[in-house]
Amino acid sequence: MMRNVTSTDLLPATLKVLSLLCLCGLLGISTAIAADPGKIVGADECGECHKKEVEAWRGTRHHKTFNELSRTKEAKAIAKKMGLKRIKKESDCVKCHFTQREVKGKLKSVSGVACESCHGAARDWIKVHSDYGGKDIKKEQETPAHKEQRLSKAAAGGMIPPRDLYRVANNCYQCHLVPNEKLVNQGGHKAGSAFELVAWTQGEVRHNYLSSSTGEENLPATVARKRLMFVLGNALELEHSLRAVGKASKKADYSVKMAKRVKKASARLEKIATLINAPEVGKMAAIGKQSPLKLNNNAELNRAADKVAKLAKEFAAKYDGSGFSSLDKYLPKKLKGKAHG
Ligand code: HEC
Ligand code: HEC
Ligand code: HEC
Ligand code: HEC
Repeated sequence: MMRNVTSTDLLPATLKVLSLLCLCGLLGISTAIAADPGKIVGADECGECHKKEVEAWRGTRHHKTFNELSRTKEAKAIAKKMGLKRIKKESDCVKCHFTQREVKGKLKSVSGVACESCHGAARDWIKVHSDYGGKDIKKEQETPAHKEQRLSKAAAGGMIPPRDLYRVANNCYQCHLVPNEKLVNQGGHKAGSAFELVAWTQGEVRHNYLSSSTGEENLPATVARKRLMFVLGNALELEHSLRAVGKASKKADYSVKMAKRVKKASARLEKIATLINAPEVGKMAAIGKQSPLKLNNNAELNRAADKVAKLAKEFAAKYDGSGFSSLDKYLPKKLKGKAHG
């Protein structure tokens, strides 16, 4: 069932629909988002070779949340309202704030959000991803055939490399929108961050040392890549906010905030579609605008989100951003946090 709405009446219409259909059903089941604890090796292992990256990571909220979260008043208040006792062990907090590792059959929280939260649990790819063809073979000596084999073996082992922009960025949105109605409405947790992919990857989170010729410089992404990130970020925002509205059963803070996110992302994509030549973008905007944002509409909104995801993956694979200079004046200038030197 599709209905046509203009961008201005989308949210008021939504609110009306939400209030009419307050059926107050069951909570959606939260999806597993953390990397597989049985395959986590931990950031120290990466630090054997990636010292600079680990240093940069230590300066981020992702790292600090591990020691700080459970001590904050705010966290204690959320836990209390949720009826939870041990924040460091509760799966509802841990899956977004921490990394868990399976040690002798038991789950142990070992750090905050870390390398493997974004690049995939590494047990099955850590060895292969940096082997250029034997102990004495250097990067420059690696044959193209070996490189292809190395990358595909790493991917088969579950590695999420930066070039797979959809997947590496998809991680961010799985945590930075909080698709848990109870946690938001009852616990008082934020419904998510005011997230923007360029600003949030290029600030404190940035660790692009491999891209510099010396390995010492933390280079920003190229402008072409930033353009891709800018568009893809809005696509992912739409995908995940559609899924989040799908989990809404009550007209309250959660459903209203998530519906606003759908509206905003759709409007942004609609504008971007007028600026660049990429038909996928207009199609995604149309899906966002035509999806009925009503309560207990999980199946339909997930189907819409799946369509957006498919288009977003196609977009990320098809373009390199070089033709999208019309977006440059819209790229954010203010980054989220300060990049490590
Ligand atoms: C034995 C050394 C070593 C270890 C341990 C190691 N890496 Fe690497 N890593 C490298 C080298 C060398 C490269 C550059 C590879 C290349 O040229 O494609 C690299 C590249 C990468 C890349 C970029 C890959 C790409 O295809 O663009 C990522 C991401 C990465 N490593 C993550 C990790 C993570 C996460 C860990 C820990 C789970 C880790 N690495 C452990 C040596 C290592
Ligand atoms: C779906 C992912 C997700 C879940 C589940 C989650 N959080 Fe968060 N939390 C976040 C994100 C993302 C932020 C950062 C929000 C921002 O950008 O301001 C955050 C921020 C916070 C903050 C404010 C920052 C700080 O460190 O003081 C507190 C407190 C907090 N969460 C507590 C909890 C508690 C307690 C639980 C479990 C009951 C929990 N969270 C579960 C994703 C999550
Ligand atoms: C496993 C969940 C998870 C993933 C994946 C994740 N984040 Fe986060 N992120 C968090 C949580 C939780 C916080 C808040 C921690 C706190 O303050 O206690 C946070 C905080 C941040 C902050 C600091 C925000 C502030 O208010 O200072 C930035 C920037 C950030 N994340 C960027 C990213 C980017 C970019 C990605 C994807 C490349 C990403 N995050 C992926 C969970 C995640
Ligand atoms: C919050 C998610 C997140 C975390 C945590 C994270 N990475 Fe990354 N990583 C990314 C993203 C996104 C990129 C691509 C950034 C870009 O293009 O600007 C990237 C890029 C890289 C690269 C390639 C950089 C280059 O110059 O090409 C390496 C190597 C890497 N990460 C290793 C690590 C290691 C090691 C850790 C842990 C210390 C880690 N990452 C933690 C998201 C993350």
